[in-house]
Amino acid sequence: MRSLLVFIGSLLMIINICNGLLTSRIDRMSSSSSNYITKDAFWYNQTLDHFSPYDHRKFQQRYYEYLDSFRIPDGPIFLVICGESACGGISNDYVTVLAKKFGAAVVTLEHRYYGKSSPFKSLTTENLKFLSSKQALFDLAAFRQFYQESLNLKLNRTDIENPWFVFGISYAGALSAWFRLKFPHLTCGSVASSGVVNAILDYYQYDQQIGESAGPECKAILQEVTQLVENRLASDGEALRTEFGASVLNIDGDFMYFLADAAAVAIQYGNPDKLCIPMTEANNTGKDLVSAYAKYVKEYYVGGFGVDIESYTQEYLKNTESGDRLWWFQVCTEFAFFQVAPSNDSTRSSKIDLSYHLDLCKSVFGEGVYPVVNSTNLYYGGTDIAGSKIVFTNGSQDPWRHASKQVSSPDMPAYIVTCNNCAHGSDLRGCPQSPLVPEGSSKNCSSPEAVNKVREQMIEQIDLWLSQCHTAGRSSM
Ligand SMILES: *[C@@H]1O[C@H](CO)[C@@H](O)[C@H](O)[C@H]1NC(C)=O
Ligand SMILES: *[C@@H]1O[C@H](CO)[C@@H](O)[C@H](O)[C@H]1NC(C)=O
Ligand SMILES: *[C@@H]1O[C@H](CO)[C@@H](O)[C@H](O)[C@H]1NC(C)=O
Ligand SMILES: *[C@@H]1O[C@H](CO)[C@@H](O)[C@H](O)[C@H]1NC(C)=O
Ligand SMILES: *[C@@H]1O[C@H](CO)[C@@H](O)[C@H](O)[C@H]1NC(C)=O
Ligand SMILES: *[C@@H]1O[C@H](CO)[C@@H](O)[C@H](O)[C@H]1NC(C)=O
Ligand SMILES: *[C@@H]1O[C@H](CO)[C@@H](O)[C@H](O)[C@H]1NC(C)=O
Repeated sequence: MRSLLVFIGSLLMIINICNGLLTSRIDRMSSSSSNYITKDAFWYNQTLDHFSPYDHRKFQQRYYEYLDSFRIPDGPIFLVICGESACGGISNDYVTVLAKKFGAAVVTLEHRYYGKSSPFKSLTTENLKFLSSKQALFDLAAFRQFYQESLNLKLNRTDIENPWFVFGISYAGALSAWFRLKFPHLTCGSVASSGVVNAILDYYQYDQQIGESAGPECKAILQEVTQLVENRLASDGEALRTEFGASVLNIDGDFMYFLADAAAVAIQYGNPDKLCIPMTEANNTGKDLVSAYAKYVKEYYVGGFGVDIESYTQEYLKNTESGDRLWWFQVCTEFAFFQVAPSNDSTRSSKIDLSYHLDLCKSVFGEGVYPVVNSTNLYYGGTDIAGSKIVFTNGSQDPWRHASKQVSSPDMPAYIVTCNNCAHGSDLRGCPQSPLVPEGSSKNCSSPEAVNKVREQMIEQIDLWLSQCHTAGRSSM
C-alpha cells in the first residue's frame, strides 16, 4: 500500500484495527463493527509540544483500559500502542490472550492527531507540525507515568511500580521498539510485530515481496494485467477507468497506484488466494484478464475493504478535513517508504516511481516538504537499532518485512513466521486477517504451528524480561 496504514477488512465487514497497517488511503475506513474487548474511552490531557519550553498547550488524548485479567496489585501492565488510525478500543487480539496468561492489565493510547485525539480541527500543514514519531513516543512516556500514578491512587498506595511491557504492530511496532530504545527505564521490554524500524526512501522491496508472495504464476498474471492496463490507458483510458468504477482517477499514476494497492492488500493481510485463485482461473479459462481484475478490485478491494477511490486523488488529500492526510504527512516528512516499482520484474506500473511520490508530498503539503529519511535513521538507528529486550517478528509473506530488523541478537531476538498466509502482524493478529480471526487465534492459518511456535518464543521472552524487571527492584519512580 501506499504508505503504511491501517485497517483490516473482510468481505462482510470492515474492521478498523488500532495497530495499523501501512497502506495509504485506506486508513480512514473506520468502522462501525469491530472486534474490541472494550470501547469505553477515557481522556488524558496531553502536552502538545514536548520539545518546547514555552508552549504549554494541551490536547485531549483518548485511551482505553482493560482490567479483567489484571492480577491486583502487582500484575504487569501491557501498553498496546495504537498507530496510524483511529483507535476505537482495545482489540481482541493475541495480546488479550497474553494478558490472561500474565495477569496483565491492558492499556491503549490513541496516536496523536488520529481518530478523536487531534489537537486541531483543521489539518493544515502548519497545524500538522506536531505530528511526528518523536512527539508520539513522548506522549506514550507521559501517559505511562500518568497511568501508573492514577492506578496507584485507585489502589490507595504510593510509590509502587508495576512492570510495564509495550506492544505494537507495523508503524506501532516500530514505536514499540523505539519506546524501549528511548525510554528503557519505563518498560521491561517490547514486542515489535512487523515493526518498520528502517525508514526507506524508495521502498521497491515492497513490490518485489508482493511478487514473491504471490508466487511465479500469479505474479506473471499480475504483470500481464499491468501491461494490458497500461496499453488500454493509452488508447481507451476513459472506458477502462469506467470498467474499474474509477473514472475519478484521471491521472494515470493515481489510477495505477489504486490498482497496485488493490492486489497488495490481499497479500499484506494474508489472503493471497482471494487474489490469485480467481486470476489464475481466469487465465486458465482464457477469460479477459483485465475484466477479471476489475471484478476482483470492485468486489474485494472496494466492496470488501471499503476503500474510498477518491482518496487516491491529490485533490482529496489537499482537503484539510481529511484524516487521510495524516499518514501521508508522516511518510512525506519522516519515513517515506514510497512503494515504487522496482527497476525490473515489477508487478506495479513503472509510472509509480519516486517522483510520483515526491510530487505528491509537495503538492499536498507544500514546497519544501519531503522525507528526511536519513535523519530518521540517524535518530533511531534503522536496522542497527541499539536497543535491548525487544522481540522482533516478521511474517514471511509480508511486504513490509524488508523495513524491519534484519538479524537476531541475544538481547533483540528476531523471529519469522513462515506460511502461505502469514503476513503483516500474523503473530499478534492471526492469519489471514480478513476476515479477522478473533482472539489472535491461528486456526485458519495455513501453518498454525508456525504461528504458535513464534508465539511460544515470544512468551518465553516476556516471561524472562518481566522477571528480570522485578528482580531489578523497580520500586519507585
Ligand atoms: C483537562 O483539561 C481540561 C481543559 O483545560 C480541564 O477542564 C480538565 O479538568 C483537565 N482534566 C484533567 C483530568 O486534568
Ligand atoms: C487508604 O489507606 C489508608 C492508610 O492505610 C487508610 O487509612 C484508608 O482507609 C485507605 N482507603 C481506602 C479507600 O482503602
Ligand atoms: C495463462 O494462460 C496462457 C494460455 O492458456 C498460458 O499459456 C500461460 O502459461 C498462463 N499463464 C500463467 C502465468 O499461468
Ligand atoms: C533484477 O535486478 C536485480 C538487481 O538489480 C537482479 O539481481 C535480478 O537478476 C534482476 N532480475 C531480472 C529478472 O532481470
Ligand atoms: C542519505 O544517506 C545515503 C546513504 O548513506 C546517501 O547516499 C544519501 O546521499 C543521503 N541523502 C541525503 C539527502 O543526505
Ligand atoms: C524480516 O525480513 C527480512 C527481509 O526478508 C529478513 O532479512 C529478516 O531476517 C526478517 N526478520 C526477521 C526477524 O525474521
Ligand atoms: C476459517 O475458514 C473457514 C473456511 O474458509 C471459514 O468457514 C471459517 O469461518 C474460518 N474461521 C474463522 C475463525 O475465521
